[in-house]
Amino acid sequence: MNFLYPLFKKIAFSLDPEVIHENSIKFLSDYPLLGELFNQKVSPFESEKYKVSLNGPSWSFPVGLAAGLDKNALALSFFSKLHFGAIEVGTVTPKPQEGNPKPRLFRYPEDESLRNKMGFNNGGAEKGLCNLLSTSKNDKVLGVNLGKNKITPIDKAWEDYNILYRNFSNISDYLVINVSSPNTPGLRGLQESDALEEILSSLEDVRSEKPCPLYLKISPDIDKSHVSAIIDLVKKYSLTGIIATNTTIMKEKGEGGISGRLCLEKSRNVRKWILDETRECPDLDVIGVGGISSFKDLWDFWLDGGKAVQIYTALIYQGPGILKQIKEGIDDALILNDMKSLNELLENLEKVKSPFLK
Ligand SMILES: Cc1cc2nc3c(=O)[nH]c(=O)nc-3n(C[C@H](O)[C@H](O)[C@H](O)COP(=O)(O)O)c2cc1C
Repeated sequence: MNFLYPLFKKIAFSLDPEVIHENSIKFLSDYPLLGELFNQKVSPFESEKYKVSLNGPSWSFPVGLAAGLDKNALALSFFSKLHFGAIEVGTVTPKPQEGNPKPRLFRYPEDESLRNKMGFNNGGAEKGLCNLLSTSKNDKVLGVNLGKNKITPIDKAWEDYNILYRNFSNISDYLVINVSSPNTPGLRGLQESDALEEILSSLEDVRSEKPCPLYLKISPDIDKSHVSAIIDLVKKYSLTGIIATNTTIMKEKGEGGISGRLCLEKSRNVRKWILDETRECPDLDVIGVGGISSFKDLWDFWLDGGKAVQIYTALIYQGPGILKQIKEGIDDALILNDMKSLNELLENLEKVKSPFLK
């Protein structure tokens, strides 16, 4: 089915990005079985082969779907048929909201990048919950990404995260506090220590009442000392890990956040700082996201010390074929090193032969 996505892309890229996105999600929610066409079949005795063990739930494959593509969990059933190890839906806010005025999604095909200023357009928590309860995620790890409503004052943001945690902790494998979108005024300010601590401390009671792995998603536009301050809080409040990163601001391109190859360098730097600083903390996951578009990028992330990544923009430009390319890359690396599983490869990474130095 290798021809299907290039054909679809040819038509899709001649249309408005958001119109084609919305219609595709609707179509895929009506025809989830289409996912079977892109499925990389893995035989039952290979089920452990691509598994990555994490502090949070283990993933069956080291690549997950990043937040924002299926905000309302409409096409979860379709995406769970692809070879993703985890699927993150949202960002969900407590109340429904329209998001920013259109147009708000732009392509940069020459750089395999996107710019968006969506502003958490979503159907709200009630709709998100209904959709999640009426759909199948198969055996995939499900994450729900949580954000504050635009109309909620910044000093009351913690209330939104509490409502959302309470609503989604029972039906999710992990939750994400999103304080890193550039498209909700003041949101990134919640990454500052005092504001972040207010949110994390306010969640302590509900977290002990309803335990659920909890990640923090951060921006690539922060400096090293700020990253250190965030890590201190993540450790203090025993979060499961950090998702790094959201989109980056490039003023010369216009308003909003840039994703894809143009954000790789900044994202990768932030990931490296976190991985370097948390090397002695195996019980803290660093999920890499931002500009990852090939097996080589995943390999680099492994060399930096990480394990699992997410993608969004590369899926738009390359289609589900990127998952096949990564699966084949892993197969080659395992054969080259005479190993049986990805966990074995990752545990011995400093000794293994690199498929890129053949
Ligand atoms: C159109 C669009 C909408 C997004 N919406 C969200 C969102 O609602 N919540 C979120 O945490 N990240 C959102 N993101 C950010 C992605 O999850 C991801 O962090 C970012 O795009 C970098 O990864 P990539 O280079 O693989 O796309 C969005 C990205 C795009 C392109």
